[in-house]
Amino acid sequence: MKTFCFANSQIIESEKAKIHPMDIGLIRGYGIFDFFRTSNYSPVFLNDYLDRFIRSAEKTFLALDFGKEELSQVIHELIEKNDLKNGGIRMFLSGGVSENHFSPTKGSFFIFCEDLDFPSKDKYEKGVKLLALEHIRSIADIKTTNYAFPVWHSKIWKKEGAEDVIYHMNGQVSESSRSNIFIVKDGKISTPANHILHGITRKRLLELAPQTQIRNITLKEALNADEVFMTSTTKKVLPVTQIDELKIGNGHPGPITKKLLEEFTELEQKISV
Ligand code: PDD
Repeated sequence: MKTFCFANSQIIESEKAKIHPMDIGLIRGYGIFDFFRTSNYSPVFLNDYLDRFIRSAEKTFLALDFGKEELSQVIHELIEKNDLKNGGIRMFLSGGVSENHFSPTKGSFFIFCEDLDFPSKDKYEKGVKLLALEHIRSIADIKTTNYAFPVWHSKIWKKEGAEDVIYHMNGQVSESSRSNIFIVKDGKISTPANHILHGITRKRLLELAPQTQIRNITLKEALNADEVFMTSTTKKVLPVTQIDELKIGNGHPGPITKKLLEEFTELEQKISV
């Protein structure tokens, strides 16, 4: 965590930030967040992340006292004060303290700056393994703080040498615990349409590859794909070369995955000069 944060309307030392222990963000896991990166001091795709965060607040009936302009101003101030050349920025709004310890009230709002590491070069070169897991995220299109299930399950996937999981339910794939999923078969790119968080990285990929089909994808299709990759703010475009004990395609990152990673990285560099 970097030295300065924004806590309930002021920039203060991060260590002094406080939240009430009875906040339903803590005792019920009811809160929202968003997370984006800086590249060369520039908040990457900030507009999209602010839109998504404001939408999450509306959909969870949580009052956010700041509009886009104000948030953007604070974020730029924090980047400067924390000398955040390449790092992560987390906005968090809690459900608040409530008399019945259940219903949302006025929450606490924070923006923190963090160090951020990408997956190793080796993972981009060799690809990663995912475990297929029968699960579906509730209110998946809202970026809530409720990640209890994957945090709990991560003990298992780490033991199995997996990077993460691929969620499926009734034979349909949705996403990974903190990333979106794409598959490639015979040169055609597809990504699940439903039960997903609408990732900002996914959105950019869809602009780079507008021919991508947004549709229902079965787990069987993912297992038989030529290429699979995952997208997120913290991973960009990461090749998936194994699901459970099955190799995807020839077991190496495919040409379309590599090309999209290159194009995404270029796009990001172009906007952050
Ligand atoms: N996760 N799906 C889920 C469930 C996510 O939590 C995320 C982001 C994504 C990808 O969205 P984006 O491209 O906007 O990062 C998809 C963040 C990175 C996290 O929780 O750390």
